[in-house]
Amino acid sequence: KNDFYLLYRGLLLPNIAHTEDSLKFLESFQMRDDDVIVITYPKSGTTWMQEIIPLLLNGGDFTPVLTIPNWDRMPWLEESRAAGLIDKLSAPRTFVSHMPYYLMPSSLFSSKAKGHVFFFHFEVIYVSRNPKDVMVSSFHFHHMAGFLHDPGTFEEFADQFLAGNVIFGKWTDHVKSWRNTDLGDRILYITYEEMIQQDLHGALERMLVFLGKSLSKDALRRITEHCQFKSMKQNNMSNYSLVPETVMDTTKSMFLRKGIAGDWKNYFSPELEAKFNKTISEELNGTDITFLWDE
Ligand code: PPS
Repeated sequence: KNDFYLLYRGLLLPNIAHTEDSLKFLESFQMRDDDVIVITYPKSGTTWMQEIIPLLLNGGDFTPVLTIPNWDRMPWLEESRAAGLIDKLSAPRTFVSHMPYYLMPSSLFSSKAKGHVFFFHFEVIYVSRNPKDVMVSSFHFHHMAGFLHDPGTFEEFADQFLAGNVIFGKWTDHVKSWRNTDLGDRILYITYEEMIQQDLHGALERMLVFLGKSLSKDALRRITEHCQFKSMKQNNMSNYSLVPETVMDTTKSMFLRKGIAGDWKNYFSPELEAKFNKTISEELNGTDITFLWDE
């Protein structure tokens, strides 16, 4: 059902939230030096970061995450809500985006072009996730989201995913585009798996240092606890329960669905696993992007 999608510079975008105007807003967006932008390919940890970043930046004050829906407290730069919210955001402004690097607003690049590199300190955090789990999460999301087409069988969806014939395009294009940026030390790379399998507390500490902030041990511990899947799932400002059933049908799947690493093992046949590994590793050949998480 292509009437659900808008084609923007080769990318399929859900037209429920993306319009010509919203994309113009993105293109002309003026970065400020204290902006914080989190970039994700869809289903890689966006909602999680919409919880974490405001908590880290607000000195452990839980009010924003308990009173403002995630899509308003940290809006998508490319979505139609952004324009109306921009003047209401207090500094540092926080945004998320699913866009590949080359479709970011030109103000993100011009700081360097103008030789302002030492004065601009906006920060970008790129979160990636094992693409197999991304695909499983996206498959379920296509069932529950009324604004996405039926994904077909899992194998059919895998073909579409690998071909990049899905919203926001091909996963490997996205991760590759954000790998070689001119952002230097203004970009931090985090993986979903290190937050979940390893040590959320440690990942939050890394983000704090990157953001140039500090928190008391107790505040960081409380934030870590709140951001665990089980407790975050209870937060109505972040679990998408405010969304009508026609938009997201939670009888089919929850938005905060499983929150684990390795769920792909319950879905991939050995044949699909081989095909997936071959395609992804060929496309990542020559890059330093590796995923330890499968082993
Ligand atoms: S979207 O539509 O792009 O905004 O989706 P996104 O938020 O990027 O990804 C949704 C998946 O992230 C999981 N999630 C979490 N996992 C662990 N801990 C926490 N706190 C958490 N919050 C969100 C969410 O459950 C989706 O993954 P799946 O595998 O479907 O459970």
